[in-house]
Amino acid sequence: MKLLALESSCDETAAAVVEDGRRVLSSVIASQVEEHKLYGGVVPEIASRRHSEAIVPVTQKALDDAGLTLQEIDGIAVTYAPGLIGALLVGVNFAKGLALSANKPLIPVHHLRSHIAANYITSPELEPPFLCLVVSGGHTHIINVKSYTELEVIGRTRDDAAGEAFDKAARAMGIPYPGGVEMDKIAENGDPNAFKLPHPRVDGAPYDFSFSGLKTAVINLIHNAKQKEETLSVPDLSASFRKAVVDCLVQNTEKAARETGAQKLVIAGGVSANSLLRRRLQEVCKARGWAFYMPALNLCGDNAAMVGAQGYYEFLAGNTAGMDLNACAQMPIQGPKAL
Ligand code: KG4
Ligand code: ZN
Repeated sequence: MKLLALESSCDETAAAVVEDGRRVLSSVIASQVEEHKLYGGVVPEIASRRHSEAIVPVTQKALDDAGLTLQEIDGIAVTYAPGLIGALLVGVNFAKGLALSANKPLIPVHHLRSHIAANYITSPELEPPFLCLVVSGGHTHIINVKSYTELEVIGRTRDDAAGEAFDKAARAMGIPYPGGVEMDKIAENGDPNAFKLPHPRVDGAPYDFSFSGLKTAVINLIHNAKQKEETLSVPDLSASFRKAVVDCLVQNTEKAARETGAQKLVIAGGVSANSLLRRRLQEVCKARGWAFYMPALNLCGDNAAMVGAQGYYEFLAGNTAGMDLNACAQMPIQGPKAL
């Protein structure tokens, strides 16, 4: 089954053709990051406008690269939630138009489910059940993936997402948006023990995270240094901050895996590109004899190939939509029934 998949939940307009959930026939991404960089973060109104401009050429290129016409496609998968509402609406309305005109099934896909599905492309042997740490710009969840379409959140952030914390701390250090990516590189040349930073825990919820105190600690260090007209080493501060975030992520994920008896550990989302997180979880899994899966670096950030991967399993589970499909800014990963 060949799906045309569309993604427009944030600042990437993407289209892909994916066969049977695992084989990527084409994948096209138009990133808006350079434009949003000017403002230090994503400007929702600009994002919507750029999606409207890019969606037709990006989709056409995905079909051309796959060597297929719309008629040769078996269904249209689209990210419908969660994300920036104006941005999501562009993809959802375009997908509805395509599905109606070509008389193809319309398959709504949850953004975080698709991030997890990026792993099905990278590791064709991977099948649920497994435990997954989903770390993106907007979400930080530990998820028990029981089957392709049955997912249970067992831990979550109480405040900032890991990616958001990386971006905000990076911004305070003068690193341009999206700071997490750049900070990861800078941190490679810093001393991770140069600054003692808090490792916040949530009382009574061992799998939950809290990153806002850690972010504030870094911002305070920078402000105090400025007042004393001192300069802090950005590589040392980056390395210390990255280590603190990764310590928290690894600690809770390892505990969750141990206590739920998971044999397979998976990571997903933009922050799963973080080199320290990848190394550390790989070590933990090796020591404990667990299988470890991570998406290829080009599938960690937002893309449509992952939407096509998850869309296939949603279709098999009967999760298609009619012309009344709407975009939703917020949506639990369990789906609309959990609202
Ligand atoms: O999943 P994603 O592309 O978009 C959302 O769904 O939010 O995640 C984007 C986030 C940004 O906060 C970005 O700074 C972060 O992922 N990110 C990283 C790295 N690469 C991307 N954070 C830390 N280290 C990285 N290497
Ligand atoms: Zn994402």
